[in-house]
Amino acid sequence: MPGRAFITQPIPEPGPTLVRQAVDDLRSNSEDRVLSRAELGEAVAGCDAVLCLLTDTVDASVLEAAKGCRIFANMAVGFNNVDVAAASRLGILVTNTPGVLTEATADLTWALILGVARRVAEGDSEMRAGRFPGWGPLYMLGGDVTGKTLGLIGPGRIAVAVARRALGFAMPLLYHGRRPSPELDALGARRVPLNELLAESDFVSLHVPLSGETRHLIDAKALGQMKSSAYLINTARGPVVDEAALVSALKSGRIAGAGLDVYEDEPRMAEGLADCPNALLLPHLGSATHATRAAMSRIAGENLVAALEGRRPPNLVNP
Ligand code: DGY
Repeated sequence: MPGRAFITQPIPEPGPTLVRQAVDDLRSNSEDRVLSRAELGEAVAGCDAVLCLLTDTVDASVLEAAKGCRIFANMAVGFNNVDVAAASRLGILVTNTPGVLTEATADLTWALILGVARRVAEGDSEMRAGRFPGWGPLYMLGGDVTGKTLGLIGPGRIAVAVARRALGFAMPLLYHGRRPSPELDALGARRVPLNELLAESDFVSLHVPLSGETRHLIDAKALGQMKSSAYLINTARGPVVDEAALVSALKSGRIAGAGLDVYEDEPRMAEGLADCPNALLLPHLGSATHATRAAMSRIAGENLVAALEGRRPPNLVNP
């Protein structure tokens, strides 16, 4: 099939092969770095299809530069990096890769829950630094997980997968979402208003997409409503949390700790966060397993090929 496609950064197979088989001109950024907006605009001009990543800022200017393009296939479940309204105006399809990263992200959420409560990274650092003084009755005490209340903000697939794992830890479950979730209800979770969830949970885990409505959903006021013994877990999107307010809450002991995989201004993080021993910090690894990234690559490739063939891509996000 004639056509030109662009892949914005090296990605695992099979996406590149699927795209290569569908077009006669596949270009890609062979450098393992995010292109600037200007570079991206230049690269997508004249393309029929683009396979992009969550780190690419696909704003109206980039989409204008790609005028005539059929699809931007985002290799992520989140698509807050794409101006979908502008894409729709320009007749450009936008797709994401839902479903295939649910279990990997839920696993990592649990790594953060257990890791921050039981001070796993701190303990590892103690050992490596030769600071382990020997077992002590007061040494490195942490919080309990089993039997504690888990509050899930956002009732989507990942929240359900996190909740399923929580059953093994005998955790009462709360959730907050605009609509009831039959899946969470079936697991015995109770749907409550946000303030009730914040006040009653021992672990507050975020599973909302980033939007105007969810930006800074967890601000100083929300942190102030949490128990001082509670932990905040974020594997969703960084800007859902006011990171400066979180640093203050961690430093003052307003909350017990935070397990974070995402940041407000990635790859940077707020000043002072790295100095908080009660923060467990991971570099956006939610979907970072070999099989999951291959599945995301395949789905992004399939969405792209469908659009080029004039079919409706399976994971369209344009309204
Ligand atoms: C996504 O797909 O949105 C995840 O953040 C990737 O890890």
